Amino acid sequence: MKIALGSDHAGFKLKEALKGFLVSRNFKVLDEGTYSEDAVDYPDFARKVADDIKNKKADFGILICGTGIGMSIAANRIKGIRAALCLFPEMAKLARLHNDANVLVLPGRLISSELAQWIVEVFLSEKFEGGRHQQRVRKIEEME
Ligand code: RB5
Repeated sequence: MKIALGSDHAGFKLKEALKGFLVSRNFKVLDEGTYSEDAVDYPDFARKVADDIKNKKADFGILICGTGIGMSIAANRIKGIRAALCLFPEMAKLARLHNDANVLVLPGRLISSELAQWIVEVFLSEKFEGGRHQQRVRKIEEME
């Protein structure tokens, strides 16, 4: 499974930590930057990762900015993207089970790397339940 990663400067350190974690778990990683702590604009990286999902260059995306809010707003503007800002593993689980989220968004300035790894692990191990949730996701798609 291939995971596209993107962050701004505020998410850079956590992105690097998660890259190592994902590789150690045998995931393939597509690192779309940023590549330092120099200030950048988070929408540029949201777009790159969202396009990777749209163009099937990656199965899932992970986006990180300071709060996770800007990345969520930006990524959810792209057709076909369901980006979920998750602060707890339970949110990540339900984002997959109920919302069929294809991008996990994390707040680099608000959670530890250990908690982020746990959230990522849960997000990547759960599957969409379908059923009653399918028509809800379809209704979201109809708004695009
Ligand atoms: C950057 O300072 C910060 O605004 C950004 O990382 C993010 O939190 C925006 O939502």
